Amino acid sequence: VGLPVLGMVGAGQLARMTEQAAISLGSSVRVLADTPGDSAAQVAADVEVGDYRSLADLRAFAARCDVVTFDHEHVPGPHLRALVADGGVAVRPGPDALRHAQDKAHMRRALVGNGVPVPAWAPVREPADVDRFAADSGWPVVLKAVVGGYDGRGVWFAADAGAASEVLAATAGTPLLVEQHVDLVRELAAVVARSPSGQAAAWPVVQTVQRAGICREVLAPAPGLDADRAVAAQELALRIARDLDVVGVLAVELFETAAGIYVNELAMRPHNSGHWTIEGARTSQFEQHVRAVLDLPLGDPTMTTPYAVMANVLGGRAEEGAGYRLAERLGHVFAHDPGVRVHLYGKQSRPGRKIGHVTALGADPAAVRHRAVSAAAYLGGAQ
Ligand SMILES: Nc1ncnc2c1ncn2[C@@H]1O[C@H](COP(=O)(O)OP(=O)(O)O)[C@@H](O)[C@H]1O
Ligand SMILES: [Mg+2]
Repeated sequence: VGLPVLGMVGAGQLARMTEQAAISLGSSVRVLADTPGDSAAQVAADVEVGDYRSLADLRAFAARCDVVTFDHEHVPGPHLRALVADGGVAVRPGPDALRHAQDKAHMRRALVGNGVPVPAWAPVREPADVDRFAADSGWPVVLKAVVGGYDGRGVWFAADAGAASEVLAATAGTPLLVEQHVDLVRELAAVVARSPSGQAAAWPVVQTVQRAGICREVLAPAPGLDADRAVAAQELALRIARDLDVVGVLAVELFETAAGIYVNELAMRPHNSGHWTIEGARTSQFEQHVRAVLDLPLGDPTMTTPYAVMANVLGGRAEEGAGYRLAERLGHVFAHDPGVRVHLYGKQSRPGRKIGHVTALGADPAAVRHRAVSAAAYLGGAQ
């Protein structure tokens, strides 16, 4: 119905849920999938199978789109620059902005340059760099792959010099950075959206609960967060979006410490810490991302409920992977609690893999959290 053609590179669950939002706007997302079985490729009307690392495949895809956006941050920057230079398609966010979500060292340099607080860090070229850094910051330290990490893959905690050199040996050839181990009270996320016209909107700041580097729960709004600190975190995220010229959703992962907040990392796409907005906010992060990259006026980010909790469904034991068992468990969850909302991504279950999420809404934060977490654990294969 006349909306520009929105293409999304990558066909994971973020593209799948973006597709769902686009349908409501009378549109659909054209996805570039690795395989026809990918999460979003199963449901999108217009799927192209191709390799996001191939400039030829990206060009063929972009030629049939008005706007290109992303399900992940792994498209090589030079390819994105080539698409921009070719013309005819708007790349949103643009390659210069996206680089801050692709390269953790580049991100830290830019944020420090803009006066944004980040944990102490240093690039690592040789083992001695880690020892020099630790001489100042103390052990333990955190080593991170500069590019390509996600869900804790690409993050290593090193208690001493011996452990650090083991990480370096095991990752030989991977550019790393070393970072101070932050004594964190908890983790927060400030999710905002910005359009090319410069309009911006912020959802309430949430608490994220990570285990083994993987996000397990998101509590909205962050329980007991000091009101001034919440506003400061939203303003910080909005400022980062403007300073880095982000278009679309920007998720700013934060560490809350006794001394204040630090930025951990940036994602320039719908993010796990914003899944709760599908039911818990007047405008979901997926609809907002579509509006932003199409330069439509943004929607109201106000919450629809006092508390929303999202819990991820992680794949359980391998033998629990069959769809039949999941369907059976879905029936039990729905019978037990008609109020929870379940989102399943059509992904093969593997231990530790995100295969869906559950959202619960309500007025009692402890009860809402319990409902979401127990439903997600059961769907993931818990007894
Ligand atoms: N410097 C740090 N100090 C303490 N914990 C950290 C630090 N860096 C990362 N973590 C923990 O590891 C998780 C994953 O790290 P992150 O840098 O966000 O990588 P990823 O790209 O895998 O999400 C964080 O959410 C946090 O729980
Ligand atoms: Mg992270």
